[in-house]
Amino acid sequence: MTIKTGDADFNSHAFRRALGNFATGVTIITARNADGELVGATASSFNSLSMDPPLILWSCIKASRGCPIFETSTHFAVNVLASDQAELSNHFARQQEDKFSAIEWGEGIGGAPIFADCAARFQCESYQKIDGGDHWIFVGKVVAFDDFGRPPLCFHQGSYSTLFNHLAAEPASKERGDCQPADGRLEDHKFFQMLRAIRAYQDAYQPKVSALEVNLIESRLLLVVQDLPVLGAEGLTRHLNVPVHETEEALQNMQGRGFLAAQGDGFVLTELGRAKADAAWKLSHAHAQEAFADFSEDQLKSFSAVLRGLIEQGSPHKSLR
Ligand SMILES: Cc1cc2nc3c(=O)[nH]c(=O)nc-3n(C[C@H](O)[C@H](O)[C@H](O)COP(=O)(O)O)c2cc1C
Repeated sequence: MTIKTGDADFNSHAFRRALGNFATGVTIITARNADGELVGATASSFNSLSMDPPLILWSCIKASRGCPIFETSTHFAVNVLASDQAELSNHFARQQEDKFSAIEWGEGIGGAPIFADCAARFQCESYQKIDGGDHWIFVGKVVAFDDFGRPPLCFHQGSYSTLFNHLAAEPASKERGDCQPADGRLEDHKFFQMLRAIRAYQDAYQPKVSALEVNLIESRLLLVVQDLPVLGAEGLTRHLNVPVHETEEALQNMQGRGFLAAQGDGFVLTELGRAKADAAWKLSHAHAQEAFADFSEDQLKSFSAVLRGLIEQGSPHKSLR
């Protein structure tokens, strides 16, 4: 349904959801002003602008606490986050007195804080400030950059995600000969097999969630709240893999619809919520059953053992200092 922004039924929530279809990376933009005050904000509005001169841009909510520092700083740094830096992203998205004392950072050009282990970094001179409604558009002239080539953290429809290289998709049969190496190395490579398997599993599962009349984040919230001890927004955020404000919005919606109730510092399912969570688990189990129906118990046991082994090999969880 086309919604006209001048119509009475226009609502900013629907507008934000529609914008959320545009997948982006995630950055933390930092600066220091002449008084030595530091600022840092998580931002997905970063984009490239010009090669000559080398310009980039991002937009900053005028009402944010840090905005006046960006407005008066001579430089800023763009830290493009890597896929294992979602916790850092949440840290810098949260309003707090001092965002820098709990983390490790280095001093970049013009005193702007820079972070290690990013995917890339762009250090900029402040070049132009353009009025963009409730945001300022800040244009920076890149004076130095790093390309660390780490896999990026992505953001789509309110959730963090990681890249699935499109090449990993099953090619149409007539194209197969063109893009598969003659010896089938790509076809047999375990990593590409895993990517394609997850993609196939998710593509079939996601449309089913709409039957629950909740969005993907809310469906995840139901599963997590039912399965874990009472948690608040921050604790739940860690399990949902979304920015904290998305958790808060989902909590508010689910409370409003009578599925959740506050208990102490956390949230529990109401009777209505338990029924919804049961339905969510049922859907998820039914999908798993359907997907794994053609495999024997022994095959599935080995499959689980291999997956657990790979998970254990993974890098230890990086936390803030
Ligand atoms: C994934 C993500 C992307 C965001 N993108 C932007 C953005 O592009 N511009 C912006 O002003 N705020 C953005 N925000 C919100 C800011 O991070 C947040 O308002 C700001 O850090 C609040 O801090 P402050 O008011 O203490 O300065 C984003 C938040 C998240 C979680």
